[in-house]
Amino acid sequence: MTNKMWGGRFASGPSQIMEEINASIDYDQRLYNQDIDGSIAHALMLADVGILTKADTKKIIAGLEKIRKEIEAGTFQFSRQLEDIHLNIEARLKDLIGAAAGRLHTARSRNDQVATDFKLYVRNTIDHLQEQIGSLQYALAEKAQDYADCVMPGYTHLQSAQPVTFGHHCLAYVEMLARDQSRLTDARKRLNECPLGAAALAGTSFPIDRKQTAKALGFERPTANSLDSVADRDFILETLSTASISAIHLSRLAEELVIWSSAEFNFVTLSDSFSTGSSIMPQKRNPDAAELVRAKVGRIIGAFNGLAIVMKGLPLAYSKDMQEDKEMAFDALDNYSLALAAMTGMVKDLKPNKEKLKAAAGGGFSTATDLADWLVRVLNLPFREAHHVTGSIVALAENQNLTLDELSLTDMQTIEPKVTKDVFGVLSVQNSVKSRTSYGGTAPTNVRKMAKKWIKSLEKTNLAG
Ligand code: ARG
Repeated sequence: MTNKMWGGRFASGPSQIMEEINASIDYDQRLYNQDIDGSIAHALMLADVGILTKADTKKIIAGLEKIRKEIEAGTFQFSRQLEDIHLNIEARLKDLIGAAAGRLHTARSRNDQVATDFKLYVRNTIDHLQEQIGSLQYALAEKAQDYADCVMPGYTHLQSAQPVTFGHHCLAYVEMLARDQSRLTDARKRLNECPLGAAALAGTSFPIDRKQTAKALGFERPTANSLDSVADRDFILETLSTASISAIHLSRLAEELVIWSSAEFNFVTLSDSFSTGSSIMPQKRNPDAAELVRAKVGRIIGAFNGLAIVMKGLPLAYSKDMQEDKEMAFDALDNYSLALAAMTGMVKDLKPNKEKLKAAAGGGFSTATDLADWLVRVLNLPFREAHHVTGSIVALAENQNLTLDELSLTDMQTIEPKVTKDVFGVLSVQNSVKSRTSYGGTAPTNVRKMAKKWIKSLEKTNLAG
């Protein structure tokens, strides 16, 4: 009889609970392609070194290909009793081809098998993510080109600081994403060693050819230490940490879109496809997609943290704890991919409001630095003094409720008698941005050049979407 105090859950019986906690098939079934590819490479190698007969090898491969088709057609019966994708496929292979199926597992273990499958999956995912990042960069570079002259306020502390161009702002994100790309390239390179053949943890006494399977599966080389091979989850941690950093970038852009699309800012209009209305307030147009991209970073960093905590106390080599890597990683990488797609769509559709941006760019005495620079350049004042003079001129303008270029020359001369009318040449936001031609600066000529360079290089690497 089940105990009344704790029997509620136990009513289903311990074996049921064990099955539930032990089975990973509900989520690791998505590794079926990698598992089948890995098994085929293993079988071909076993045949080449004389462990499998040609006839058995043929049967095994045909059976595995049939299973691939069944899974793709949705007719495959996944069983929780069979725990995971590896045992599900092996059991089905036995149904299909009989005893020969049992020979496939010679000289390997599920420990090296799962590490191989997961590495193949992550590698494939990285390739896809890199294409997506390329598409987002391309969309941003195109916006940068279209809005290379469009002035907007540049902020520090979210206080209007100096005018910049909208294109320059877009290109800032292109640079961040380029670093994300290179981090993913690194992660891919480091993960590209094949664990297959490490067997349970110690290697095997069978005369296998690990170089052959590594090559067949597109790996650079076999992993060098069998214990490390089955105990390592760096590859997923590294990918998740990269995804986390990149998701932070997406989140910052999303945050800007949320602010910019508010009625108070009205800097940009997001397309209807990426906004929603409110069920009760008819005037609302909510930037839901941007808000969700901003939120996704939570689960992505969460997955990195979660897996780091799972791994940190594990003695070598494999422990079942490591099965917990997949659900978190799948969720995080799926959502990172979705965030990239949503952000690309939003950027493509985005309409900057030029008039509003220009008006805002002139607010907050944003050309004060240009005035100080002019005092240095033309009147040869030391910068610290120029800064002080400019501060007094700004205070004067503020008192009269005027922008800097609206203040009269005579008023300015009450503070610095040597100022001439030439000063007005630098007080407009257009002239301010035009003058920022230092390398990496916001001048439209720079932006156009950089945007073009990015567009060209993204088209060349074929990453443009
Ligand atoms: N489903 C397992 C995992 O994801 C596969 C490896 C199981 N190995 C074992 N010896 N029980 O980690």
